[in-house]
Amino acid sequence: PETGPLAIIVLGASGDLAKKKTFPALFNLYRQGFLQSDEVAIFGYARTKLSDDELRDRIRGYLSHGKDNTEDLTKFLQLIKYVSGAYDAEEGFRALDKAIAEHEASKLSPGESPRRLFYLALPPSVYPSVCKMIKFYCTPKADLGGWMRVVVEKPFGKDLASAEELSSQIGALFDEPQIYRIDHYLGKELVQNLLVLRFANRFFLPLWNRDHIDNVQIVFREDFGTEGRGGYFDQYGIIRDIIQNHLLQVFCLLAMEKPVSIKPEHIRDEKVKVLQSVLPIKDEDVVLGQYDGYTEDPTVPDNSNTPTFASVILRIHNERWEGVPFILKAGKALNSRKADVRIQFKEVPGDIFKCQKQGRNEFVIRLQPSEAMYMKLTVKQPGLEMSTVQSELDLSYRQRYQGAVIPEAYERLILDTIRGDQQHFVRRDELKEAWEIFTPVLHRIDGGELKCVKYKPGSRGPTEADELLQRAGYVQTHGYIWVPPSL
Ligand code: BG6
Repeated sequence: PETGPLAIIVLGASGDLAKKKTFPALFNLYRQGFLQSDEVAIFGYARTKLSDDELRDRIRGYLSHGKDNTEDLTKFLQLIKYVSGAYDAEEGFRALDKAIAEHEASKLSPGESPRRLFYLALPPSVYPSVCKMIKFYCTPKADLGGWMRVVVEKPFGKDLASAEELSSQIGALFDEPQIYRIDHYLGKELVQNLLVLRFANRFFLPLWNRDHIDNVQIVFREDFGTEGRGGYFDQYGIIRDIIQNHLLQVFCLLAMEKPVSIKPEHIRDEKVKVLQSVLPIKDEDVVLGQYDGYTEDPTVPDNSNTPTFASVILRIHNERWEGVPFILKAGKALNSRKADVRIQFKEVPGDIFKCQKQGRNEFVIRLQPSEAMYMKLTVKQPGLEMSTVQSELDLSYRQRYQGAVIPEAYERLILDTIRGDQQHFVRRDELKEAWEIFTPVLHRIDGGELKCVKYKPGSRGPTEADELLQRAGYVQTHGYIWVPPSL
């Protein structure tokens, strides 16, 4: 691995994302020895005037630590320095560059090069100006070698045109290998596992297609509403917040063809291809919902048509998937909190057990919580009678990998940015395809042509969504519930 001084610059250091995700992830990396005190300095940058200690105090409470690592915490906080300045003014960025350069000068040994990682924990409206500033005032001196990378967070635009504009503005300043577009779902353990699962197992190879699979669901549920984020959320809605990015990334990994190799570019090439094969979304394949009480948030207009729930069927026009609906569903303020993938297989042809009640085979990948994979199958009911029952082959992580710690998505992704691995980041052309799929529907929602139906908070969401699921061919097994095994 590369060595040399590493500067991690968190822009928007006093904001929510930085406090809740970025700094805790950095702290976890530090604790595990991935950030060495003799190489690393972390710089917070934001508009508010603060001392180093004031920033440290603001962050401290978000860093979880047991009794035995208060020392780690103190050492980690000492790595953090703060620089204040505007997001569009030269002065602040010159001061930032000076602070970084001082750190580099004190740490640089012969043969080493400086590394600068800029993490934009900021609203995208300021990305173009911040990117300009860091490019012009904070690029390391060319003769030193080394690298400079920029990490950006969604929302990357609001539709195809605005996303492309943002991409061109950033693309004019940095090369694609320097740009890391985070989709934190790509940092989740079971999402990362999809590639291995599909392409390292003989079991799945012959079954993973339209001949055997009837329908696929990718579902995200949250049991809380937009509390405190109404103002942001109302501008975007559930499709832009969850479906167009997080669920679509999972969709790509499930549906894409086998990449030439596991090199990041090969994988991302396949994701782009499958996105290109998605047919335009039809109105009858969409159900939108908004929970009762959503507009009571003072930051949300009373007549808002922003969906807090959506179920959308994607149809792929290719040899593997023609005719297989992929149902992407996401909702806030529902009855549970979980994310999973449910692959339902077709009926057994010429089924001699059909007269006995049984369900279809399903392969379920529980992304969170209680990470697991289980296969629902029909077995003989143990006992004297020759009757059948639904059961499952269960790989529950908590049980199978006792004591293993599943890293936080952000932790893993930040480590990738330091290592220069772009596999789990969204490439520019991938982003464009993702917007192409959803932009027409989004425009129709924004224009009020597609309307939301109301649903009760704490419910399953609109009943229309269950009807859509049925029309898509999903057959629910009643009376069967998977229970995560206890230890
Ligand atoms: C974010 C969305 O990207 O993902 C939030 O903006 C959502 O609305 C969150 O709550 C869910 O992430 P996770 O990791 O808790 O499933």
